[in-house]
Amino acid sequence: MLKRRTKAMYYAVAGPMMQASGLVYRSFLAPRSGAVKVQLGPGQRNYLPGWINVDANIFTGKCDVWADLRRKLPFRDETVDVLYSHHVIEHLPDIAFHFREIYRCLKPGGCFRVGGPNGDSAIRKFAEGDAAWFIDYPDTRRSLGGKFENFIFCRQEHLTILTYSWLHELASDTGFHGLRCCKPGCETSLGEWIDQTVLAMEPETTPDMPHTLIIEGIKPANLARQRSA
Ligand SMILES: C[S@@+](CC[C@H](N)C(=O)[O-])C[C@H]1O[C@@H](n2cnc3c(N)ncnc32)[C@H](O)[C@@H]1O
Repeated sequence: MLKRRTKAMYYAVAGPMMQASGLVYRSFLAPRSGAVKVQLGPGQRNYLPGWINVDANIFTGKCDVWADLRRKLPFRDETVDVLYSHHVIEHLPDIAFHFREIYRCLKPGGCFRVGGPNGDSAIRKFAEGDAAWFIDYPDTRRSLGGKFENFIFCRQEHLTILTYSWLHELASDTGFHGLRCCKPGCETSLGEWIDQTVLAMEPETTPDMPHTLIIEGIKPANLARQRSA
C-alpha cells in the first residue's frame, strides 16, 4: 500500500491531468447509447472485461478511463445502465456528491451496487469483544481497539465509517429507490447486470456478519412523470 504522503503527492500532481482526462472522456469518448456497465476503482485485480473500468491508478492497475472519482464522473447524463464499486467510496471525501454523480450518469431505471468496509459488523463485533472477526490488514494489531481502528480507518486511507442506515439516507436523499443491503458475493436484486463474475470479486469469510457492506439501488424509471408531477 502506498504511503499516505506519496498518495497525496500523486493526487496533487496528477489530479488536474486526471480531471482533464475525465473531461475529455465525458465530452468526446463516453458512449451515448447501448448497454453501458461501469466499474469505479477496479484496482490491481478486479478489472472487469466488457465493463468500462475507471481508476486513478494506471501504474499497478488496469483501467479503461483514467479519472479522479472525487470529481464529476466521466460519463454523460443518463447514459449508464449500471455502476459498480467495491471498497472505493470510503476513500472519497464527499460521498453525497458521489451519489449525486452516480444518479446523474445512470439512465432512468439504471442501478448501482456499491460496497465498502462494514461499519455495522465492526461496531457489533467490537461490542461483543470478538477480536477474531477482525482482519490483519493493513496492519497487525493485538488489542481489540487496535483491530477496530485498523479495520475502520486503514492507516487513515478511509475517510469515513460506512453503515447501512447512513448509506440508505444518502442514497434515498439522492432519489434512489429499491434500496437493499445485500450479502457480499451471493446476494443481488440486480441479476440482469450483477452476474457471477462480479459477485466473485466479493470474497467473504463470515457471510452472516460480513466484512463488506453492500448496498444496491435503482434510479426511478418514470422520471418524466415525477418531474411533471
Ligand atoms: C481499496 S482499492 C479497491 C480495489 C478493488 N475494487 C477491490 O475491491 O479490490 C480502491 C481503488 O479505488 C481507487 N481510487 C481511490 N480513490 C480514487 C479516486 N479519487 N479516483 C480514482 N480512483 C480512486 C484506487 O486507485 C484503487 O484502485
